[in-house]
Amino acid sequence: MRIILLGAPGAGKGTQAQFLMGKYGIPQISTGDMLRSAIKAGTEMGLAAKKVMDEGKLVSDEIIIGLVKERIAQDDCKDGFLLDGFPRTIPQADAMKEAGVKVDHVIEFDVPDDVIVDRMGGRRVHPASGRVYHVVYNPPKVEGKDNETGDDLIIRDDDKEDTVRARLAVYHDQTQPLVNYYSEEAAAGNCEYHKIDGTQPVDEVSKQLSELLG
Ligand code: AP5
Ligand code: ZN
Repeated sequence: MRIILLGAPGAGKGTQAQFLMGKYGIPQISTGDMLRSAIKAGTEMGLAAKKVMDEGKLVSDEIIIGLVKERIAQDDCKDGFLLDGFPRTIPQADAMKEAGVKVDHVIEFDVPDDVIVDRMGGRRVHPASGRVYHVVYNPPKVEGKDNETGDDLIIRDDDKEDTVRARLAVYHDQTQPLVNYYSEEAAAGNCEYHKIDGTQPVDEVSKQLSELLG
């Protein structure tokens, strides 16, 4: 199963990717996590990306498309994958299409901006696994610690309110056009398009995903 998770920053893509990965055994490809790993590793690309990410802007299509193509070609993606945070621009979606990468389901998480700003303030992440928590809505079993490893959780550098607002503006400007793009793909029979109310509790969103994916 090949799935694209589409939605604003903080809409719940990473949270539900973790759920779907466990349920369907397909890997999560999060371009944001890949970039953060490159930053941590101190690569040249990582250093350049950090500046852009801290401003809430998008890393160049060229870099991102290269990263994803390389990742999708790996063995564990043979039977499917979850794209989390990609594509995020029309040229990224076109590049996938031109590369002959077919998608089965595009899932849009619909969440208003004010809910997002509230969520991001309480987000805590475990970078090594991609697991995501929220201090109120999805708390870890032990405060500040990852459920599986007990490692310390961190706050992402781009979760400051100003940066979140900049990311939301970029989403509406550059990523939201993909809603139409994939609705048209679905109308042409190339994939299925589903819109989910992402303001519901985490478990309810997971339940609806299970129902529609089978
Ligand atoms: P990326 O890491 O992809 O960030 P994002 O898309 O902005 O999305 P987030 O990870 O912030 O949110 P999410 O939807 O995964 O929500 P989450 O599940 O964590 O990208 C970061 C940056 O990298 C970009 O700004 C850009 O610079 C660059 N980049 C990445 N991909 C790129 C690309 N393709 N092209 C160019 N540049 C790219 O949930 C958020 C919080 O809410 C958590 O605390 C969670 O616990 C909580 N929560 C989740 N669901 C619920 C719920 N149903 N109810 C209550 N709380 C919930
Ligand atoms: Zn995420």
